[in-house]
Amino acid sequence: MSNNLLKGKKGIIFGALDDKSIAWKTALKCHEQGAQIVLSNAPVAIRMGEISKLADAVEAPVIGADVTNMDDLKTLFEESQKHFNGGIDFILHSIGMGMNVRKGKHYTEINYEWNQKTLDISAMSLHRVLHTAWELDALNEWGSVVGLSYIAAQRVFPDYNEMADAKALLESVARSFGYHYGVRKKVRVNTISQSPTRTTAGSGVKGFDAFIDYAEKMSPLGNASSDDCANYCVTLFSDLTRFVTMQNLFHDGGFSFTGVSEALVYQMQAAHPQE
Ligand code: NAI
Repeated sequence: MSNNLLKGKKGIIFGALDDKSIAWKTALKCHEQGAQIVLSNAPVAIRMGEISKLADAVEAPVIGADVTNMDDLKTLFEESQKHFNGGIDFILHSIGMGMNVRKGKHYTEINYEWNQKTLDISAMSLHRVLHTAWELDALNEWGSVVGLSYIAAQRVFPDYNEMADAKALLESVARSFGYHYGVRKKVRVNTISQSPTRTTAGSGVKGFDAFIDYAEKMSPLGNASSDDCANYCVTLFSDLTRFVTMQNLFHDGGFSFTGVSEALVYQMQAAHPQE
């Protein structure tokens, strides 16, 4: 259902790999709400993924950019401005990659070169994107930028590994750049801390299936789906949230503020029937 919440708005969406991607769902919802979109992803992901299907559905050009490459980002923003014939109103940064996670290195034994890459792709890339927009003065007043985070930035989830540090850095960049962009141009920058979600990036985390069940039981509303995450992104890109900035916003069905749930206590009690 469309309320035209994004009518007339123009945005860049990073990170749609396949139809499970949070960015994919968000592109569909933004289009449904009247936005014009440019899609971007790493050139290799564009070659291997299915983004052209999404591009057709949302009538968007696809412009490749490795988010760790400043020349790629400059070209992407310049081409997007040309395509939109003007400035950009919103950006979704839906990008993550844990090199040590992918290669099965334990947190206590990470390879630091890989770790640099992880932090660059997953966190400092938000700074790179914002810096590029800043230099080109590409974002319109009251623009909105959203990155995607996870609660391992604040609480320990051992198997989330180096990505916990990457998310803590990502949230910090959103806060710090959000300050400067707010003062300069009333642009807001936030992160959404999303429930565990079955996607390519999500499933890379060790023990993911057990983990998703645990989170489901711990959340009074259950895990938030990627479609619901996309809806939340739409609200943050809309004019209904103009004074929300520099925040990490939990979109997790209440997980983050639940100490323990009855469902989990019953499960533990079942394991100790004599007590
Ligand atoms: P996904 O695997 O569909 O998306 C990750 C995207 O990052 C892919 O499209 C990939 O091509 C892109 N990417 C990787 N390296 C890149 C580079 N150098 N340049 C440009 N793009 C690059 O998975 P998902 O889950 O949709 O991930 C989106 C965001 O949501 C990530 O930041 C992830 O950490 C975050 N998130 C995911 C959760 C989950 O459980 N799936 C939970 C909380 C946050």
